[in-house]
Amino acid sequence: MAVTEINEAKLEAFFGLVATEIGAALNVALVTLGDELGLYRAMADGEPVTAAELAERTGTLERYVLEWLNTQAASGYVEYADGRYSLPLEHALVLADETSPFLSTGSFQSANAVVGIRKALAERFVDGHGVGWHEHDHDLWHGTERAFAVGYRTHLVADWLPALDGVVEKLETGAYVADVGCGHGASTVLLAQAYPASRFVGIDYHAGSIETARRRAEQAGVADRVTFEVAGAADYVGTGFDLVAFFDAFHDLGDPLAAAQHARAALAPDGTVLLVEPFAGDTVQENLNPIGRMYYGFSTMCCTPGSLSQPGRAGLGTQAGQAAIAAVLGEAGFGSVRRAAETPLNLVLEARR
Ligand SMILES: C[S@@+](CC[C@H](N)C(=O)[O-])C[C@H]1O[C@@H](n2cnc3c(N)ncnc32)[C@H](O)[C@@H]1O
Repeated sequence: MAVTEINEAKLEAFFGLVATEIGAALNVALVTLGDELGLYRAMADGEPVTAAELAERTGTLERYVLEWLNTQAASGYVEYADGRYSLPLEHALVLADETSPFLSTGSFQSANAVVGIRKALAERFVDGHGVGWHEHDHDLWHGTERAFAVGYRTHLVADWLPALDGVVEKLETGAYVADVGCGHGASTVLLAQAYPASRFVGIDYHAGSIETARRRAEQAGVADRVTFEVAGAADYVGTGFDLVAFFDAFHDLGDPLAAAQHARAALAPDGTVLLVEPFAGDTVQENLNPIGRMYYGFSTMCCTPGSLSQPGRAGLGTQAGQAAIAAVLGEAGFGSVRRAAETPLNLVLEARR
């Protein structure tokens, strides 16, 4: 039956939401611009500044900075009073401190990259093809590295690895580890720094990412125990791995089943598979919240088209959830899959033979 009556309040509320949304979409670009130009960092002490002072500090033009500051003030990112603008210390932790566990500028950078594929994606919606990780702007690779490294620095060594059965002991005495879909190697390098007795191989099909990962290992002084190889998740060489890890990569694969089978075959008899995945519930309803919204957005513009660009075309999606991932691992022959840890942003799963 057709709906004939318009609920005025509902219409007004949605119209208001749309204005907020358009403002937020524009501010995604302006946050990254502020990050690139050091505008937030120049306000990180929380002291009120004029546009002229901020422009002076950052070598930028006052007129542009004034407009940017007004957008930030209207967005609630900075506070405004008497012609001066200040970045609250709590906001500086999210926007201006590279060592903070709350830093989120990498995610803005990634968001900027993925919205850039809109026109191509509209064609893919119709022709059914995918968009590979390698086809995106480099902001996606760098933004992802920065965004995910925050979580790895905060949780990987402190919480996630200790939650796995017997893995830390092996890493401390000398384990052999594969990091599949390693990207720029943020997790691989971090692991190598934490466990000097172990050896690590980072694997990614994207040659550009592997090149950067090798540079990161050199810069961190761990290149003696970390190698990076260009290879697919189901065809890298090597066996006897004590740990095969997928950091935010399993759902991106065209053929996660083949990757899981390959990992199982490449494991040492008592080895462990670690999957760090975006936090998600198993039903759509459970994901209808701000985190789910952000992940569904990345999924539509990046992870799902990435998977559909590869043989297998599984399209698990960023919000696959534990049950869907465990089903793939079960089909690959893993006898035990359990949630070892979680954060508001991540599910941490352990799979054993
Ligand atoms: C979301 S990124 C995560 C990168 C990295 N693990 C991190 O946490 O920063 C997903 C990665 O999976 C890689 N990838 C996608 N499909 C792959 C495949 N079939 N084989 C190997 N790597 C793949 C991409 O190139 C990309 O680097």
